[in-house]
Amino acid sequence: MDTTKVLKRPVFLRLFGLCATGQPKDKTSWRIGEGTVEVDLTRLPELQQPERAVRLEDNAAGIRVLLVKGPDGSFHAYRNECLHGKRRMDPVPGAETLQCCSVGHTTYDYDGNPLTNDLDGQLNVYTVEQRDDALTIKLD
Ligand code: FES
Repeated sequence: MDTTKVLKRPVFLRLFGLCATGQPKDKTSWRIGEGTVEVDLTRLPELQQPERAVRLEDNAAGIRVLLVKGPDGSFHAYRNECLHGKRRMDPVPGAETLQCCSVGHTTYDYDGNPLTNDLDGQLNVYTVEQRDDALTIKLD
């Protein structure tokens, strides 16, 4: 029996691939560096609590990052594309997992390994360095 915790969401949101995680309200809370994304946590109230996330996206620059604050307060960043069909993901509170927003809701551990749906490969996990209230996400 599959005991994977599923983020409960209306099916029409899953059909249209609409994720629960939003973009930062303060657009100045992050910027693109040289092969990095630089984040100012003082401008990101969305990440004050653990098990929350934001989407950092810039289509022109090809940036599509999911930044997650884990239950222990550590930060995790991913290329925000499900291995199955490239839809976006959300953190699942209480499970330390990420879950695709689609109907298939492929679930991943924080290391990017798929736990459901028998997919090959791993999410692109970015290194996150923290210095006080500043994060550097390395996009390599
Ligand atoms: S896009 Fe199909 S499960 Fe993620």
